[in-house]
Amino acid sequence: MHTEIMQTMQTRVIPADDAAAREAGQLLRAGQIVAIPTETVYGIAADATNGEAVAAIFRAKGRPQDNPLIAHIDSLAMLEGLTAPLPPSLAGQVERLAAAFWPGPLTVILPRGPQVANEVCAGLDTVAVRMPSHPAARAVIAACGRPLAAPSANRSGSPSPTTAADVLADMDGRLPLILDGGPCAVGVESTVVALTGPAPMLLRPGYITREQLQAVLGVPVALSGAILEKLKEGETARSPGMKYKHYAPRAEVTILRGSLPAFAAYTAAEGRPGDFCLCFEGEQPALPLPCVTYGRADDPAGQAHALFRALRALDEQGAKRAFARCPGQEGVGLAVYNRLLRAAAFRVIELPPAGEAAAADASGALDASGTPGTSAPAAGISGEQDT
Ligand code: TXA
Ligand code: MG
Repeated sequence: MHTEIMQTMQTRVIPADDAAAREAGQLLRAGQIVAIPTETVYGIAADATNGEAVAAIFRAKGRPQDNPLIAHIDSLAMLEGLTAPLPPSLAGQVERLAAAFWPGPLTVILPRGPQVANEVCAGLDTVAVRMPSHPAARAVIAACGRPLAAPSANRSGSPSPTTAADVLADMDGRLPLILDGGPCAVGVESTVVALTGPAPMLLRPGYITREQLQAVLGVPVALSGAILEKLKEGETARSPGMKYKHYAPRAEVTILRGSLPAFAAYTAAEGRPGDFCLCFEGEQPALPLPCVTYGRADDPAGQAHALFRALRALDEQGAKRAFARCPGQEGVGLAVYNRLLRAAAFRVIELPPAGEAAAADASGALDASGTPGTSAPAAGISGEQDT
């Protein structure tokens, strides 16, 4: 029934100027949902203190109810009531992180307060908070005067949108208004760090790196196991979003880890009509298949900026399968690798050195144990939950 209502809704896309921010603020105060640009990816916003409004986000996205949302604020004063009163040591950590990274692409998990709607926290006793830097996002929060719950503005399971056109492709007829603020600068979602455990823990890597967090907090930041590995059957995710297969295009993506010559040899041997290479800029002439690029090999920030658009471009060009060049995992590269791993449902193939590629068997691959043969990645793909 909801779908019927949503499909008849008219969706307008307007430039994200001051008048648009005021209109969005009014809609949000009236309990509606609006798509807004942020510096990371586009989000679908709702008044975080209004449970019914927040529930509409979950319906529009088709998002599982147990996956909590981030509350977006435009000032530290807005933390009041959103979080529980913070003990001095925790308040000190928040102050240091805020001074270094807010406004910006960092989300902090804190004990929840009474003002945030239950739907935002999805049953947890914690709340995720972030102060975005995008001027349009800030203008909309200010116009509404309340914290805004805002997940990425994609249909659940598809790549996060980094342009207004990508939001429209997923959300046409499902919300009344999209503010167009141009392409997102960062391109991957915010870094998520939990301050609610015995030690800070990185739950989702992003543009703000683990090294930067450690430098500011002055203590080690643990890495959640869910960042690089698929959750095992029955395991609970600290960040519920990590248990879902995210960011996936319709094309079946496989990461090939190895040199460019080894990648070229593998794709030449394995490629079929409908196959694409998801490669770095400038590599196309060396490759035997049609290519979509995602940044330069030596530029992780450029890769982050381009990745989600590239995943959508694969679908637009009708790719059936895509073989992806493997990004580095240092600094911002960890965020790129984390998103690509999920797009690939954790399929990773270790390539033999290029010289040996021709000598390897038809699959040309070594599995994780170093024996020849195509490998499903260490974790395999069975049991992966799609949303
Ligand atoms: O950059 C971003 O963070 C974008 C823009 C729109 O701000 N938003 C975004 O939201 O990526 P979403 O809902 O797609 O991702 C939020 C992530 C999910 O993985 C969710 O499970 C996690 O944050 N999260 C939210 N609340 C949490 C909590 N209380 N404890 C642990 N994880 C939480
Ligand atoms: Mg998302």
